[in-house]
Amino acid sequence: MYKTALLKIKRDLINNNNIEIIEQTKAIKQAAELIVENEVVAFPTETVYGLGANALQEKAVLKIFEAKGRPTDNPLIVHISRREQLFKLIKGCILKVADKLIDEFWPGPLTIIFKKSSQVPQITTASLETVAVRMPSHPIALALINQTELPLAAPSANSSGFPSPTSAEHVYSDLNGKIPLIIDGGICDIGLESTVVEIQSEQVNILRPGAITMEMIKKVVGNTHLVKTINLKEHVKPKSPGMKYKHYSPSTPLWIVKKNSSITKILKKNNINNEKTLIIVSSETLQNLKLNQIKARIKNLGSINDLNYIAKNLFKILRESDLEDFKLILIEEVSQKDIGIAVMNRLTKAATKII
Ligand code: TXA
Ligand code: MG
Repeated sequence: MYKTALLKIKRDLINNNNIEIIEQTKAIKQAAELIVENEVVAFPTETVYGLGANALQEKAVLKIFEAKGRPTDNPLIVHISRREQLFKLIKGCILKVADKLIDEFWPGPLTIIFKKSSQVPQITTASLETVAVRMPSHPIALALINQTELPLAAPSANSSGFPSPTSAEHVYSDLNGKIPLIIDGGICDIGLESTVVEIQSEQVNILRPGAITMEMIKKVVGNTHLVKTINLKEHVKPKSPGMKYKHYSPSTPLWIVKKNSSITKILKKNNINNEKTLIIVSSETLQNLKLNQIKARIKNLGSINDLNYIAKNLFKILRESDLEDFKLILIEEVSQKDIGIAVMNRLTKAATKII
């Protein structure tokens, strides 16, 4: 049992993006000391909060799995702050196409899978021969990595199976007593986890969609490689082991409502038009609902024209909904374009039904 400390870094320091100054804060100094002592620390990234430990120390990484209750066959992403740190982690040279992706998208929400070096312990990669690496863009994450001078293994800082945390409060509610420190850097900008890609000789596979979209990757890769999204169904043995787990799930059953379905009809037909049902819909749909016919509770998902806002708030809405005593949550599907693809990927994994 730990007494979990919360140390805040001020918004103006984050906005100024001055990593050297952030490195000198009490929060970073204390966090770096803990990491060097093989402890775990939660910290913000531009995607979601991560739970970090020295990626090269087995006993430190083991504490991540314990705190999250994560199955040990699900490998972690290793976070770096400088490109040179890659060479210790990977085997062989960096392919040209990987170089292009790094140039364009690092630091940022893109995770790339490489062949792993023998320095990375088996526990970090769940015994895979590959290692997933990303350079986050959040100044707190970069300052922490700089200050420790270590690559940090960091999954999302939620309890396994819960939605990823997008604020320090989310981390606290999942991991209070299980970790020594949370660095509070406010709300994460993107709100969904990084895009994960695997590079083959003629193909780039997107194993998990995120803020770096297929179109963005295609533009950089050019015509040397095909870019494909890999669906779990296409693989009996999942390529990205995390894909086989039911993820991001609120504990209340969740139905995705298709664009053309009528919410009022669904409520009536399933006899669920009561205050134990929550419907989460776009502001546009909300305007067209006949509110006098609806007894279910309603939450606004945001405008269908602002997919970034929807992505940023999705896990927060799912978490908040779970705190109340609903028997069922209905959520409206969003367009499968831009970050909407990642939103629908997470929702589909969390859903119990698509109607
Ligand atoms: O945005 C993010 O990526 C956040 C922040 C904290 O950086 N991290 C994150 O980590 O989402 P996690 O552990 O929740 O998700 C990592 C995903 C899992 O689906 C895992 O299976 C996959 O990456 N992964 C990790 N190493 C892999 C590897 N060597 N090969 C294939 N997939 C891998
Ligand atoms: Mg996760």
